[in-house]
Amino acid sequence: MTEVGVSILSADFSNLRPYIKKCEKVIDFIHMDIMDGNFVPNLTFGTPVINSLRKITKLPFEAHLMVINPQIQWKWYLSSRRILFHIETVKEPEKLISHIKKAKKEVGIALNPETSIKKIIPFLDRIDVAFLMGVSPGFAGQKFKRNVLKKIKNLRRIIDAKNLNCKISVDGGINHRTAPLCLKAGADILIASSFLAKDIAKRVRFLKNIKK
Ligand code: DX5
Ligand code: ZN
Repeated sequence: MTEVGVSILSADFSNLRPYIKKCEKVIDFIHMDIMDGNFVPNLTFGTPVINSLRKITKLPFEAHLMVINPQIQWKWYLSSRRILFHIETVKEPEKLISHIKKAKKEVGIALNPETSIKKIIPFLDRIDVAFLMGVSPGFAGQKFKRNVLKKIKNLRRIIDAKNLNCKISVDGGINHRTAPLCLKAGADILIASSFLAKDIAKRVRFLKNIKK
């Protein structure tokens, strides 16, 4: 069954607890969209919100760092099971990978839709997740960029040929139409926000049961 994470970006921020409690029954983990208003043209939340949510749920968290200095900020998110940084923001990815690994956290590298997968090929044997953005990061509710399907396919081929454990996750624009295409192309994990803002149980079940 496909692993599914929910991004709380489309939830009501004045009332997160009921949404988190609904998530607990169906979702594998919560994807935290951390934006700094600099790497992306939007600002969300950081440690105060995440630490408060950490107290009300045992669901694993995944920290998606859309910030210009993940080499500093990654340490702030140790309450997450997995930390994702953008390849576009880091000069020495191998250093950051080893810091995160030493902290006993899973590590993933995220790529914007227009960033070539060539940038992460050298690191595939050291990371847990190759994280492909289906939209330009910054906002929920955008349209999936179809060129990403080819990137998923090519990455799948490389990971399988090398027999690596790295999983492929897709974030942005996931819905009932695009999820089957991503899974067919070779994705292992799906992240969704606006699609799961309503009927979360039914929709997560739908995503999990799509035949590959
Ligand atoms: C985009 C975020 C995504 C986004 C997904 O910057 O990283 O996680 O919130 O939202 P939807 O599923 O609505 O595209
Ligand atoms: Zn995200």
